[in-house]
Amino acid sequence: MSDQARPLTVAEYEPLARARVEPGAWDYQAGGAGDELSLADNVAAWNRIKLRPRVLVDVSSRDLRTSAFGVALDHPVIVAPTAAHQLSHADAERGSARGAAAAGALFTLSTISSVPMEEVAAAAPGAPRWFQLYAPIDRGACRALIDRAVEAGYGAVAVTVDLPLPGNRERDVRNALELDLGVHLPADQAVDPDTGIVVLPTLDWDDLDWLRSVCPIPLIAKGILRADDAARAVDAGCDGIWVSNHGGRQLDTSITAPEALPEVVDSVGGRALIVADGGVRRGIDVLKGLALGADLVAVGRPVLWALAVDGADGVQRVLTILRDELSLAMALAGCRSLADIGPDLIA
Ligand SMILES: Cc1cc2nc3c(=O)[nH]c(=O)nc-3n(C[C@H](O)[C@H](O)[C@H](O)COP(=O)(O)O)c2cc1C
Repeated sequence: MSDQARPLTVAEYEPLARARVEPGAWDYQAGGAGDELSLADNVAAWNRIKLRPRVLVDVSSRDLRTSAFGVALDHPVIVAPTAAHQLSHADAERGSARGAAAAGALFTLSTISSVPMEEVAAAAPGAPRWFQLYAPIDRGACRALIDRAVEAGYGAVAVTVDLPLPGNRERDVRNALELDLGVHLPADQAVDPDTGIVVLPTLDWDDLDWLRSVCPIPLIAKGILRADDAARAVDAGCDGIWVSNHGGRQLDTSITAPEALPEVVDSVGGRALIVADGGVRRGIDVLKGLALGADLVAVGRPVLWALAVDGADGVQRVLTILRDELSLAMALAGCRSLADIGPDLIA
């Protein structure tokens, strides 16, 4: 893509991607649950927050570097796990992982990926990566996924706790979408007789204890929106709490990340890494997430849009836009480093 034709903003990727992705796949990626109220509110919630910029700070250079579980990161913008990247581009997760690595962004691979986790790791060797786990019903299969992730150099497992059942994605019902469950959930494993799905609708705190006992690398609970759940997950040994309403795809009218962050951050009290996602489309949204106490801020759909438009290069660019916008927002808010970004910036 020529420089002039390149999108300037994250949002500009959306219509370009829509023109390239098959309509049923587009609805799967773009849609949310029920009336899609949380989906819309995810973007609106960041926009509702007003900032109180600090002035007369020498911001001629800004330091965006941070770390996660001892691994150095160039900046706090990371990639959220999203399923089936093959729907967006033939390079699938190989392209997204390469683009993320080129932008210095940590990449989280979904269990429901189009490409085996080892191939994704080989596409961006040495780059920081996490594996998202949909815990299979069969514990042997579950443990095998964790062992493979460790072996392939994934630095943490993010177990998704907000999908006991899939939300009612009515666009997918209308389209009679049949989502391929990707390469990691073997077809021959146990299937829930009531729901016919392979993930665990009974997943509970005992299972989290079990996961903790078999997972030798940092464990993150993804999909937490309440102080009590966050505290309990940390007490169970989780090293990270991922504040998310699953991109508005699970319980419609769930609160958004910026609404949940204050209570979660307060209850975690620095005992775990905090990730936030949902509706992040500007570097200013990232700044707000950090000001509300997140350590890292993740994006889902924008990566899929950019992958569809321009493969790995697009993913690199969309993440670089967010990083550069964050850097400028820091300057204009009087912040020289991430440590300067605190709740006092929020009106
Ligand atoms: C198409 C799509 C697929 C997703 N697949 C997964 C998944 O496999 N596992 C998971 O934990 N979350 C999944 N999510 C949720 C994302 O990890 C993330 O929470 C959400 O996309 C963030 O919102 P955003 O898309 O507005 O940035 C998916 C989201 C989308 C849009």
